[in-house]
Amino acid sequence: MGLSIEDVSVVYPAADRRPPVDALSRINLTIDDEEFVVALGASGCGKSTLLNLIAGFLSPTSGRLVLDGQAVTGPGADRAVVFQKHALLPWLNVLDNVAFGLQVQGIGKSERHKIANQYLGMLGLDGFQGAPVYTLSGGMQQRVGIARALTCDPRLLLMDEPLGALDALTREKAQELILNIWNDTHKSVFFITHSVEEALFMGTKLVVMSPRPGRVTHVFDLPFSRQFLDGAPARRVKASREFIEIREEVLEIIFADEEAAA
Ligand SMILES: Nc1ncnc2c1ncn2[C@@H]1O[C@H](COP(=O)(O)OP(=O)(O)O)[C@@H](O)[C@H]1O
Ligand SMILES: [Mg+2]
Repeated sequence: MGLSIEDVSVVYPAADRRPPVDALSRINLTIDDEEFVVALGASGCGKSTLLNLIAGFLSPTSGRLVLDGQAVTGPGADRAVVFQKHALLPWLNVLDNVAFGLQVQGIGKSERHKIANQYLGMLGLDGFQGAPVYTLSGGMQQRVGIARALTCDPRLLLMDEPLGALDALTREKAQELILNIWNDTHKSVFFITHSVEEALFMGTKLVVMSPRPGRVTHVFDLPFSRQFLDGAPARRVKASREFIEIREEVLEIIFADEEAAA
């Protein structure tokens, strides 16, 4: 089982004297159980459009998406999204932000707080339950957003450049945390990033996309997140010869795309 994206295209219709946009062209892709799929590519190549399709926020112009044998026709509790801007509710404290999705589902206060506390612990946020979210650092706010996405126990976790706003050190720590959570919870992940190093480190599968029209040009299977989870230090994984070779190969692909577009 898992998600299959079958010959999917998206055209945004013409508007305000702008022509229609071929945002995605004939995408075929699977996200298998427990796979960590990373999409990488220049701005405008359709990464967010693809995530919005998987989330069910958007329908394909042609083709279809099938999750565990069922056609995707809209959003559902089996998929949760973490955005770059964490979209927390400033009038609620950390605990109630994390419990918010459960509240929407009608789950009572003591039960939802119990579940929220479990994920706050997993994300290293114990002790911050009562804090107003705007008093937290960017990295901590992003962890609150991830905890909130996990509370509904989704099959598939969708992340659109979740670490893009963090400083370099916080970002590396957050990468490691996300990999550990993925390993512990056995979820499937679809993760978007601009960073080649982050993409290679995190993914079990890398999907390189190219713009105008947005399409998948290369797919790589990757071993690096498993090496980290098997105990290799992250920096050592990222400095290995195997990692550097594939990093240069991917950078060449992306630079060639940029030159073609210029
Ligand atoms: N709602 C929309 N209406 C019209 N065009 C859009 C809309 N959303 C995105 N686009 C266009 O579709 C293309 C893909 O966008 P997007 O999926 O956001 O790419 P990415 O996330 O890779 O930067 C871009 O050219 C973008 O301008
Ligand atoms: Mg985007």
